[in-house]
Amino acid sequence: MVNPEIEKRKTFAIISHPDAGKTTLTEKFLLFGGAINTAGAVKRNKANQSNTSDFMEIERQRGISVATSVMGFEYSGKRVNILDTPGHKDFAEDTYRTLSAVDSVILVVDCVKGVEEQTEKLMSVCRMRNTPVIIFINKMDREGKEPFDLLDEIENKLNISLCPLSWPIGQGHTFKGVYSIYKKHLNLFNSDKTKVTDSVVAVNDLADEALLDYLKEGEVKGLQDEVELVDGVYGHFDQSLYNEGLLAPVFFGSAINNFGIKEILDTFLEIAPSPKHREAEERDVLVEEKNFSGFVFKIHANLDPKHRDRIAFLRICSGKFERNKFYYHTRQDKKLKFANPMDFMANEKSIVDEAWPGDVVGLYDSGNFKIGDTLTEGEKLHFKGIPSFSPSIFKEVENMDPMRTKQLEKGIEQLTDEGVAQLFVMQPGNRKVIGAVGELQFEVINFRLEHEYGAKCRFRTLSYSRSRWVTSGDKKKLDEFLKRKQQHIGADKEEHPVYLADNDFMIDMTKRDYPDIEFHTTSEFK
Ligand code: G4P
Repeated sequence: MVNPEIEKRKTFAIISHPDAGKTTLTEKFLLFGGAINTAGAVKRNKANQSNTSDFMEIERQRGISVATSVMGFEYSGKRVNILDTPGHKDFAEDTYRTLSAVDSVILVVDCVKGVEEQTEKLMSVCRMRNTPVIIFINKMDREGKEPFDLLDEIENKLNISLCPLSWPIGQGHTFKGVYSIYKKHLNLFNSDKTKVTDSVVAVNDLADEALLDYLKEGEVKGLQDEVELVDGVYGHFDQSLYNEGLLAPVFFGSAINNFGIKEILDTFLEIAPSPKHREAEERDVLVEEKNFSGFVFKIHANLDPKHRDRIAFLRICSGKFERNKFYYHTRQDKKLKFANPMDFMANEKSIVDEAWPGDVVGLYDSGNFKIGDTLTEGEKLHFKGIPSFSPSIFKEVENMDPMRTKQLEKGIEQLTDEGVAQLFVMQPGNRKVIGAVGELQFEVINFRLEHEYGAKCRFRTLSYSRSRWVTSGDKKKLDEFLKRKQQHIGADKEEHPVYLADNDFMIDMTKRDYPDIEFHTTSEFK
């Protein structure tokens, strides 16, 4: 039997295209879960969208992001761990890594905008790991796209089967409430944004006369017809398809108005998976194994040069994590113990004595960790599923202060270990090329090199916009390829060869010219 401590854990992330309502929904979960008392307690964790070069904004975001990195609370007999992800698209890589540490996600879609660019990207990352996804269609208080049209759009663009578990009654100014198909109850709209209202009306089914006490006859008829159609088109909820990431339950609501939140939260706690086994390169690691294991998926550095501490976020995969016990750092082949591991309950940090699979603990770090590092009780394990993705901007580092070369190299090494950006070393001359998703990362690196390492550099923009990790079954052919394309090849931090290209066309041409070479879009391809 699985340990109840593990069974009760629900570790997930709420993700969305910026502005769809991720922050608002997170806050409402904390409110409904009793973790906070008033709306507005969760600060916005997003950089100003319109002004990407506002460095103060990055600092502000980083300042609050430790507190909100993990928001844990107990609700309804469960331990809920919400892992926060940055809203800004330049931090997409951080989001992808955080998704490696969750057991499921809730994807928020704005009913006015439908599926947006980031929605598609996030979904493709979930698909890579078969992460179970629940979809929340938000802002139903606004005149948006029709529910059936939205479902079609989501199914087509996100390429996933859907199963609505709640259904809206009206929309925009006619929005009356949500009928829970899963629980068979009706929740009527009450636009009080600050209080948790409980206006649930239990009905036996949609033929229940009691509905007429709350809705007009036409509305009841409309709801009956639509739910019948939903039933015919989408069928019944299949738990195992959801667990495999093949079917996404859909909920409707309005996060800002507290609406549809209880339906999704209660159903989520029932159907969302508890921590499951994890794949390591060596073997499958089961949650109920006695021995502890976990991996680092995020490193947060303090930007204040007087306090150069870092916090490594460790997701526990098996066993029990204990304070002050020695654990084995697989990559460094050494033992470490942690006197002050942090637990995150709502917005509070506290020292934790023990933690279970599904939990995330924060470990003070003086430079021991890099993203993907594994801790165990002695076994050599490397957890899978924390790949690097192709960056879109590549710049060569030019040292501006030759007297500080060592500091520059150390700074670049450590910042890329933290996952701020990716490092590729190109020959001849060991040239260092930084690859990142957005311009913000280069600003962060420049600022931090100067303030934390006393080093100065300039970035020279390169024409590349894609990277492909290259392998081949034929070593001779690979060596030949690497030699012929040397000016486009960089070595990543694991010394894997990476082909850098200007665009997809260049990649397609190269693929055609070198049919024996395999081109991978992420660093993990085994
Ligand atoms: P994000 O984290 O996904 O970026 O989105 P966030 O929750 O910050 O919400 C983006 C905007 O959408 C906010 O407005 C928020 O108030 C609004 N919003 C969230 N849920 C709903 C909803 O159900 N209905 C409507 N009509 N709006 C919603 P803002 O103007 O950017 O910020 P604020 O001034 O309201 O704080």
